[in-house]
Amino acid sequence: MMNCLQSWPEPVVRVQSLAASGVRAIPERYIRPPSHRPLTKNDFSPPQEANNIPVIDFQNFFSDDQRLRDEALRNIHSACQEWGFFQVVNHGVSHELMKRTSEVWREFFKLPMEVKQEYANTPATYEGYGSRLGVEKGAILDWSDYFFLNYMPESLRKPNIWPATPASCRELVAEYGHEVCKLGGKLMKAFSINLGLEEDLLLKAFGGEENVGACLRANYYPKCPQPDLTLGLSPHSDPGGLTILLPDENVAGLQVCRNGSWLTVQPVPNAFIINIGDQIQVLSNAIYQSVEHRVIVNSNKDRVSLALFYNPRSDLLIEPSKQLVSDDRPALYPPITYEEYRLYGRTKGPCGKKQVESLKSPRPCSEC
Ligand code: OGA
Ligand code: NI
Repeated sequence: MMNCLQSWPEPVVRVQSLAASGVRAIPERYIRPPSHRPLTKNDFSPPQEANNIPVIDFQNFFSDDQRLRDEALRNIHSACQEWGFFQVVNHGVSHELMKRTSEVWREFFKLPMEVKQEYANTPATYEGYGSRLGVEKGAILDWSDYFFLNYMPESLRKPNIWPATPASCRELVAEYGHEVCKLGGKLMKAFSINLGLEEDLLLKAFGGEENVGACLRANYYPKCPQPDLTLGLSPHSDPGGLTILLPDENVAGLQVCRNGSWLTVQPVPNAFIINIGDQIQVLSNAIYQSVEHRVIVNSNKDRVSLALFYNPRSDLLIEPSKQLVSDDRPALYPPITYEEYRLYGRTKGPCGKKQVESLKSPRPCSEC
């Protein structure tokens, strides 16, 4: 199994180069079957539904006023339970730092292709500059490039392979990673309390603050001449614990699967988008569930997003928390290390919620 992850099955094509070449028709490899294209009748939410994911003010979680704190916790709980996705404001991360980090990645993707090629990645670790997820030969490809790096645990951090230009990139990534991981820890605490667990239980299950796995993927979605035939990122749930996404403040693109249709997230200024990953679904014994999402592209604007994946240390067994298992609600998932779990996605590429569902019993891949 490891062997097939050493190299890409086909020559790598940078989507950014394709877009820049001025092609009017996208190559066949990027064209999805009609029912999987972005603009189907399913894309419109039923009118009675809210047209955005919940927005949570995180500040009150730290309030001395117990009433405000409880209310914040309730809001977070219902967002986790009913949506699996929310935006968070007053999260404590400097807006200035968010802007500068987003901007530095935008500058990186603007560098000449020869410079970026020096960071070309392989599927062995995915670290570096990449243009596909998964190694299935002949797979339909997504309209995006990315830069992937490990941030935590510190033993896996390799700043020398992070972009050396722009000059401030490494320093900003280090600072951004630090601040956003702190936010991740606070969210884990809120989730633990809301699940009725000791407040540090989820974090401990992930290996503790110093040992969690955290990685950053800077996604770059170039302009696309035929955005209605392709996707920037195929439907998937995030395999890890939770994801803290800094979306492009100027361009929407993320869509969340909601009651069988795709809802486009409208980013709120200075907010992060938080979503539950498969490992929290497993630990919570499905009280919280990961939610399928995908990215659409457009013909006038490119888009940059930063996804910080907050994950368990990869060698720890993850299983439903004992306190959430009873005769009435047996454990829905067997124990599995995150390393083993992740290997499947790194081989197959994005695959709806197929993987987490396959842990229990076979079910159709996608609601949407
Ligand atoms: C991801 C992801 C969404 C986006 O990187 O897993 O879902 O808006 N990104 O880029
Ligand atoms: Ni995702």
